[in-house]
Amino acid sequence: MNLENKTVWITGATSGIGKELARQCAELGASVVLSARRVDVLEAVRDALPGGKQRHHIVRLDLADAEQLMVDAAAALENIGTIDILVNNGGISQRGFFLETELEVYRRLMDVNYLGTVALIKVVLPAMCASNQGSIVSIASVAGKCGSKLRTGYSGSKFAVVGMMDCLRAEVSEHGIHCLTVCPGYVQTDIAINALTGDGSAKGVSDSVIDEGLTTTECCQQILKAIDKKQDEVVIGKGVSGLAPTIKRFFPGLYAKLAAKRVAV
Ligand SMILES: NC(=O)c1ccc[n+]([C@@H]2O[C@H](COP(=O)([O-])OP(=O)(O)OC[C@H]3O[C@@H](n4cnc5c(N)ncnc54)[C@H](OP(=O)(O)O)[C@@H]3O)[C@@H](O)[C@H]2O)c1
Repeated sequence: MNLENKTVWITGATSGIGKELARQCAELGASVVLSARRVDVLEAVRDALPGGKQRHHIVRLDLADAEQLMVDAAAALENIGTIDILVNNGGISQRGFFLETELEVYRRLMDVNYLGTVALIKVVLPAMCASNQGSIVSIASVAGKCGSKLRTGYSGSKFAVVGMMDCLRAEVSEHGIHCLTVCPGYVQTDIAINALTGDGSAKGVSDSVIDEGLTTTECCQQILKAIDKKQDEVVIGKGVSGLAPTIKRFFPGLYAKLAAKRVAV
């Protein structure tokens, strides 16, 4: 895949999947717009990319504040110009039983994972439609296709992303806009460490399932392949985490039994 003369905007670029995707895109020749909240980390990520600060941009965005995000992203877009590929990747997970989780945790998961994604698409999409080109990529999750314990809020927010992307694809296909929904299974990142527990505090330690998941390198190679092939949706995962959506689709009763038995932490 050749990304020379292409601009790729990636949220959640300070860590995990977003950071590795930025590296792979830069290796392929892209100019990358790096977004997240921690500017010092964004600067370190940018400086390590081929092309450094001459080729890449930093835009601080807080996905939890959709209104402010739209103001900040629109201002940045005026300087940056055309976006060829937007990757809505920034997000936060959850590890907590429904009965022990405060309402505020549900609100935060929806704000960051869903509304923040919608807000940034609203800023970037109009120019893509006007020029009849571009890709909108949203990193949802296998949890956006099927539920499991401890993730009622996370799964809800990711189901919302999957549904929104399906609708958006239907609306903008006539403009030639490609919409890709990525549903990763377990990937080795800080996602579990940063996951919200019932009271909204971070879990603070990783999970064995995450530590044994796909590497970010493998995951991002598959994301780029799906972008290149202009796929609508891709599930990326090894073992049960990659098979879960298929099991649920064809054997829903079996899936429900397995999900009720398994505590996936
Ligand atoms: N790892 C997995 O197993 C897995 C599986 C399925 C889906 N996913 C999805 O993949 C995406 C990337 O996650 P990851 O695994 O790479 O996790 P990660 O290592 O924890 O990275 C999360 C990224 O999201 C950013 N972020 C979090 N809250 C934010 C906010 N309020 N505003 C702006 N940026 C925010 C973080 O940046 P700052 O803290 O610097 O703001 C960080 O760059 C997420 O959407 C996640 O749901 C991951």
